[in-house]
Amino acid sequence: MSGPTVVGFSGNITRPSKTYAFVEHIVRDVARRNGLSANVYDIADLGASFPAARRAHDLEATARDILERIISADVLVVGSPTYKGSYTGLFKHFFDLVDPAALRGKPVLLTATGGGDRHALIVEHQLRPLFGFFEAFTLPTAVYAVDRDFVEGIPASQSILDRLAQAVGEASVVLSSTSKHLLPLNSIGPGGGTESFASISLKPAVSIAVTE
Ligand SMILES: Cc1cc2nc3c(=O)[nH]c(=O)nc-3n(C[C@H](O)[C@H](O)[C@H](O)COP(=O)(O)O)c2cc1C
Repeated sequence: MSGPTVVGFSGNITRPSKTYAFVEHIVRDVARRNGLSANVYDIADLGASFPAARRAHDLEATARDILERIISADVLVVGSPTYKGSYTGLFKHFFDLVDPAALRGKPVLLTATGGGDRHALIVEHQLRPLFGFFEAFTLPTAVYAVDRDFVEGIPASQSILDRLAQAVGEASVVLSSTSKHLLPLNSIGPGGGTESFASISLKPAVSIAVTE
């Protein structure tokens, strides 16, 4: 994949999956509005090496490639079915293989599906802290959907469409602001053009004189 990307990752462990369809729907929308390349993956895509992997290098090539695409995405859409009030165990296992610094500053749109309304705050109480650990840039609007929000596997209720529009709008704002204000990797610098985002320090626009 070349150029800016949006990548979806769904923690469903069975197919067909409402969560996968939900994540895919959002990824398509983000891609269409922002002119991005798109990919969506789930647990089954990670293959046989994934469940027993203890480190990223234990993964087979296909799974490592997926992990790399997730780490290098310009925006990430994650989703999980609610299992016992949280994300699935294998969703967490995937992120246990990700380097703690790999998602720092990454825009992440949080989603989940569940069997009822009772666990709607999974997105705030389970998913957001996980991506907080990674110092990811989680978008303010996280989206939780239940069966009645779908018609033939497609998000259809007005409330969920409104909330999705809000979340996707936030993704567009972040994407446009990063492309306008951040210098690309390997931009000009005293080191001969090898500085990355992380090494560029922003100076305050206004300096304040302090008098005693
Ligand atoms: C083992 C298991 C545990 C579940 N636990 C919850 C739960 O705690 N809360 C909830 O709202 N739904 C729960 N559900 C329902 C699923 O979250 C719901 O059906 C989800 O949308 C399925 O998504 P999928 O089609 O992507 O697998 C559970 C389902 C399973 C199989």
